[in-house]
Amino acid sequence: MLRRLFAAIALAVAAITTTSSSVDAAQDSAQAFLDLHNATRAEVGVAPLAWDDTVAAYARTFAAERKGDCALAHSGGPYGESLFWGSSGASWTAADAVSSWVAEKQSYNCEDNSCGGASGLPVCGHYTQVVWANTIRVGCATVTCDGQSGTFIVCEYDPPGNVVGQRPYAGCGQFNRSAQSPPQDFLTLQNAFRAGLGIGMLSWDSSLAAYTETYAEKRKRDCQKISSNGPYGENIFQGAGGSGASDALFSWFGEKQYYNCTTNKCESGGACGDYTQLIWANSTRVGCASVICKTMLAAARSLLATTILQAMSPVSGRIWAARKKKALHPVWS
Ligand SMILES: *[C@@H]1O[C@H](CO)[C@@H](O)[C@H](O)[C@H]1NC(C)=O
Ligand SMILES: *[C@@H]1O[C@H](CO)[C@@H](O)[C@H](O)[C@H]1NC(C)=O
Ligand SMILES: *[C@@H]1O[C@H](CO)[C@@H](O)[C@H](O)[C@H]1NC(C)=O
Ligand SMILES: *[C@@H]1O[C@H](CO)[C@@H](O)[C@H](O)[C@H]1NC(C)=O
Repeated sequence: MLRRLFAAIALAVAAITTTSSSVDAAQDSAQAFLDLHNATRAEVGVAPLAWDDTVAAYARTFAAERKGDCALAHSGGPYGESLFWGSSGASWTAADAVSSWVAEKQSYNCEDNSCGGASGLPVCGHYTQVVWANTIRVGCATVTCDGQSGTFIVCEYDPPGNVVGQRPYAGCGQFNRSAQSPPQDFLTLQNAFRAGLGIGMLSWDSSLAAYTETYAEKRKRDCQKISSNGPYGENIFQGAGGSGASDALFSWFGEKQYYNCTTNKCESGGACGDYTQLIWANSTRVGCASVICKTMLAAARSLLATTILQAMSPVSGRIWAARKKKALHPVWS
């Protein structure tokens, strides 16, 4: 089986003059195209694409135009465009086309936004179009070409990606949303702790979650438990790779043994500020995030650790505030 990929994505703006009403019988579904695009985007923290009927109609018209020759020739239209050709004798699907584009990921070097190097194909433009953050709509089409010349698959992207001088997505390691524990994992346990003391439940707040995501991303290189000094109460956990929400929460809750409720102080030589934040009655909203860190130690050993961060609002729950203002009591007043 022979498969050939076209090496570039057209960005030129030109009018398409030929139209055709011929639609291939074996059209792949929109979802089949979207799934792999979105999964690949999620890996680097980029929002999913939406299927667009206008863009898809353009793709179908262009695919029908290629039915006669199956040539890997660009339409020169207003969209970003990726082409795929598979030889006759096999049934090529959306997944074949998109996965061949995504395979170029190994050639993409995010650090300097370049293609190639030792790893493989000197091409990664199809991949960077798949993960291009500013692209929001996609439409694709499949056509079985005449005369046993194979299968032609095209995806059109709007707005087009691969803009010279720009990166597909911000930084290298935009927040990895797919690596997160779901909000419910953080909430259920905290609210159980709070319920045990008769304190009201916390609700998930997406702007607090976004704040923790941004800060967790900054700590990715060193995994240090350093406060963000932001406007929220904040707990930070550092654990071995694979740590989850419950590891962080139990570690904070474990400080309970050092908290003396009568004196409202941490005693027995232990810290208890993470615990008092967890059960701070006036905190009502919470957002959390975790990152997998890569820390190079002096011995060049690679250590994987996870920092789990949680921000709480309002600010009164911060332990340093409680320490400064001794009158404040974390639980119920
Ligand atoms: C994007 O793909 C994901 C993963 O397959 C899917 O769950 C989601 O519904 C898709 N989004 C849209 C807008 O279709
Ligand atoms: C994001 O997290 C998922 C799940 O842990 C992982 O499979 C994927 O490789 C990560 N992506 C990046 C770019 O680190
Ligand atoms: C808390 O502090 C009070 C006052 O110093 C003391 O009497 C009490 O034993 C302490 N409680 C615990 C559990 O240490
Ligand atoms: C909680 O908030 C109320 C009003 O917003 C305030 O009067 C009270 O002192 C706060 N309690 C604590 C323990 O911070």
